Amino acid sequence: MKCPRCQAENREGARFCRECGATFGAVCSSCGAKVEAGSKFCDGCGAPLAATPVPGPAPSRFASPESYTPKHLAEKILTSKSALEGERKQVTVLFADLKGSMELLADRDPEEARKLLDPVLERMMEAVHHYEGTVNQVMGDGIMALFGAPLAHEDHAVRACYAALRMQESVRRYAEEVRRTVGVPMHIRVGVNSGDVVVRSIGNDLHMDYTAVGQTTHLAARMEQAAMPSSILITADALRLAEGYIQVKPLGPIPVKGLTGPLEAYEVTGVGRVRTRLQAAAARGLTRFVGRDAELDQDQLRKALEQAGAGHGQVVALVGEPGVGKSRLVWEFTHAHRTREWLILESGSVSYGKATSYLPVIDLLKAYFKIQARDDHRDIREKVTGKLLTLDEALKPALPTFLALLDVPVDDPEWQALDPIQRRQWTLDAVKRLLLRESQVQPLLLVFEDLHWIDTETQVLLDRLVESLPTARLLLLVNYRPEYQHGWGGKTYYSQVRLDTLPPESARELLQPPGGRPWSSTVQAALDRAHRGEPVLSGGERADPDRHEGPGRPAGRLSPRDRARGDSGAGHGPGGPGRPD
Ligand SMILES: Nc1ncnc2c1ncn2[C@@H]1O[C@H](COP(=O)(O)OP(=O)(O)OP(=O)(O)O)[C@@H](O)[C@H]1O
Ligand SMILES: [Mg+2]
Repeated sequence: MKCPRCQAENREGARFCRECGATFGAVCSSCGAKVEAGSKFCDGCGAPLAATPVPGPAPSRFASPESYTPKHLAEKILTSKSALEGERKQVTVLFADLKGSMELLADRDPEEARKLLDPVLERMMEAVHHYEGTVNQVMGDGIMALFGAPLAHEDHAVRACYAALRMQESVRRYAEEVRRTVGVPMHIRVGVNSGDVVVRSIGNDLHMDYTAVGQTTHLAARMEQAAMPSSILITADALRLAEGYIQVKPLGPIPVKGLTGPLEAYEVTGVGRVRTRLQAAAARGLTRFVGRDAELDQDQLRKALEQAGAGHGQVVALVGEPGVGKSRLVWEFTHAHRTREWLILESGSVSYGKATSYLPVIDLLKAYFKIQARDDHRDIREKVTGKLLTLDEALKPALPTFLALLDVPVDDPEWQALDPIQRRQWTLDAVKRLLLRESQVQPLLLVFEDLHWIDTETQVLLDRLVESLPTARLLLLVNYRPEYQHGWGGKTYYSQVRLDTLPPESARELLQPPGGRPWSSTVQAALDRAHRGEPVLSGGERADPDRHEGPGRPAGRLSPRDRARGDSGAGHGPGGPGRPD
């Protein structure tokens, strides 16, 4: 028989899944014994089970992924499915369940129980879908979700952890309400692991059949079972992929059924400071910067900076394939002596942020107003009011707009009276005015990264800002991958820097060991293998160029001017990452 939760094959009559540990039976309400699904009487005490109020399987609206997967995700899955079938993919698996739901609801009518349980499932699923994961299985009181397949995402582990935080937060809010009204405590546990699966097929009902390679699914389920109520446990493999993007507390090695030795587990406690891959690399220490002097020193960037500094605002776009070095060039530029006198404000779109309006703008404002993650509404109100009025009293009417963007309740009657279209207009206008006014105090370097993931509202804001640039002391530096397009190409104050892969001599320079010493024979052999196109890694070896400290910038030390987004630690709203909409 198949486990309805993780799809693993189990022997007929098994009471627990040997892969994920799910219980196949129900619980007898009189003696508490586990009974097989479908039994009429408890085989422990003989009590009739018809009235056993267990939550049972999820109702039909949760029966197949087709019935609960949002339409836009369903369409994406169906268009990309043929490319995935037969593929071995690295994914992140998430298990979530309601702790002790059966005991919790033991003396409740099943229908009443479902009424309490379904909102929990809905919140879990909403969080998964928010980060474009897919719920592969729904049980009476929990779900199993996948990130990275069938929808491919390079940052699947980060998404899974953010989804876990989001569901803990939204279920916590719901549980508070249930505790107040019904008096029942509710807590969910979440477990996350990353590993490989082979995708066998994706049905038209969106159900994905796959084979886990090694312990991929099993360990995620085990993490969930080992988690304390209301917590999130992840494995070292998941952490390695999400490092910096999340905050964790190491729990040390914990015993895991089915494994000979214990396994390191980590509790996810919040969102990390890092929002981009380069920030994660910078925190570990960057490699020495090579081969881009032409772009940095001579041409467009330097000229654009000079012109913008003289009051003729400019837009410069860095365009290139993933990993080619766009963010690194921005990092070098914003840390160069030339931009020392500039106010640098940095923001960017994130891969899971398209659905959330203004996410990069909110990040930008948080950095500008120096808002920290721990700040409450009062702190935020004080900081925004103080800074805005110090800059210019004339900006006072824009105050409600900023507060609303930052999720602070606004009691201003004029703001309340606006309809959504007017609010949008005010918002665009307020942010633009703030930036332009600030650029009168000192030149402003505004960085917007990863425009290929931009949301519509932020795009409109940038378009408006670009229109106002010619008379502003403002350099708008953006970067994106080649698939993105904008309408600024015809502006005289627009220029584009196309980044190509580094030439072989720079790549060789990048591979020089620090201090001019030769590489050890092992490293040299690996480099030779790579040069011949042979596999470099074997056994426990891992390649991570950014762990190697070059002689250039001191590893991991960010200068005081390093106002990288997320530096304030306030990148996300209280509902977890990606601001609750
Ligand atoms: N010129 C360079 N010298 C040394 N290291 C570099 C250089 N360019 C990029 N790198 C390193 O390569 C990695 C990828 O670069 P980066 O993050 O800048 O790519 P990207 O173009 O921004 O990619 P994405 O589109 O995914 O954001 C980083 O770790 C960065 O430090
Ligand atoms: Mg980048």
